[in-house]
Amino acid sequence: MTDLLLLPGDGIGPEVTAQVRRVVTALAPDLKVEERLFGGASYDAHGTPLTDEALTTAKASRAVLMGAVGGPQWAGVPRDKRPEAGLLALRGGMEVFANLRPALCFQPLADASSLKREVVEGLDFMIVRELTGGIYFGSPRFIEDLPGGGKRAVDTQVYTTAEIERVARVAFELARGRRNKVTSAEKSNVMDSGLLWRQVVTDLHARDYADVELEHILADNAAMQIVKNPKQFDVMVTDNLFGDILSDISAQLTGSLGMLPSAALGVAGKPGLYEPIHGSAPDIAGQGLANPLAAILSFEMALRWSLDRTDLADKLFAAVNKALEDGARTRDLGGALTTVQMGDAVLTAL
Ligand code: NAD
Ligand code: IPM
Ligand code: MN
Repeated sequence: MTDLLLLPGDGIGPEVTAQVRRVVTALAPDLKVEERLFGGASYDAHGTPLTDEALTTAKASRAVLMGAVGGPQWAGVPRDKRPEAGLLALRGGMEVFANLRPALCFQPLADASSLKREVVEGLDFMIVRELTGGIYFGSPRFIEDLPGGGKRAVDTQVYTTAEIERVARVAFELARGRRNKVTSAEKSNVMDSGLLWRQVVTDLHARDYADVELEHILADNAAMQIVKNPKQFDVMVTDNLFGDILSDISAQLTGSLGMLPSAALGVAGKPGLYEPIHGSAPDIAGQGLANPLAAILSFEMALRWSLDRTDLADKLFAAVNKALEDGARTRDLGGALTTVQMGDAVLTAL
């Protein structure tokens, strides 16, 4: 059985996953690692962003680590063949419905954020993003020509009780091991799916998690509060689209989008999908400028959540912190290290 399937993908994806591979070799040489083309790279080679074989291998692995997908060269490809469609098919196919996106400000980076030190220092907050439902997967979905000229485009936001409940349960369970507070973000003031979201979370809380503090917040206010005073939050649970946006905002609190890892989890015992939350960064791809820490920290999450190696995860986390303490900085963090040199710094610290 494959322990770790690497899907480097496109743009900076292969650059950052190459550093993960070095870390795996140094830290856990016993892991059986495989690699497959994914995203635009797979489309170019196989005519599809995710082959059946790659999905089957992913489902049969203990953990999957993805780099990033997409880029301007695939902008003209039909939607269902685009690199991003491959990522959605992978998430849906692996049924990883709960996406943990930790916004954690490493102490040495307290001055690297565009926000003031006192706002971000000591920050440790977790977004739990619903990942296999909502407007990303709802139907109908189409663009059509209108008889009088012009077009009409439709996307559909759909959530069921079961989909909301299972992701909220993950958030409550996580909170119990942290600071015992869940904030649920939606737009119940304008959306029926938001109304249902609030009701299901409220009911689940009363039924099974009354010991956890629960607060509801409208998603627009959540965006503002994350920038104003992020340390008020412990775990924030939200839908697929709001979670996408709120986690990019939160990434900036940690110093850079290149710092934020994620773990997408589904049913216990099934493999998790680990991905940095950043994209393929076409503006810096191929130049050795990408920060590999989000990808390396995604492997740290894989060790913790899928590979049963908390000891190694702790070691890797400490090594990343040490590298940052020693001043290792890629350009996004205000430094001059290349991607490989940042990998070197983590390996040295290990
Ligand atoms: P992006 O995340 O690729 O880049 C946004 C900005 O952040 C860019 O300036 C980029 O240089 C910078 N950045 C991102 N990651 C970095 C890193 N590790 N180190 C240093 N700087 C980094 O977002 P975008 O430009 O909006 O999207 C580009 C492509 O990536 C699109 O095709 C998009 O669909 C795709 N995308 C993929 C994923 C994914 O695979 N999970 C996530 C987001 C976007
Ligand atoms: C992310 C990305 C993806 C998303 C895209 C590339 C499909 O932005 O992982 O945050 O929107 O989920
Ligand atoms: Mn995103």
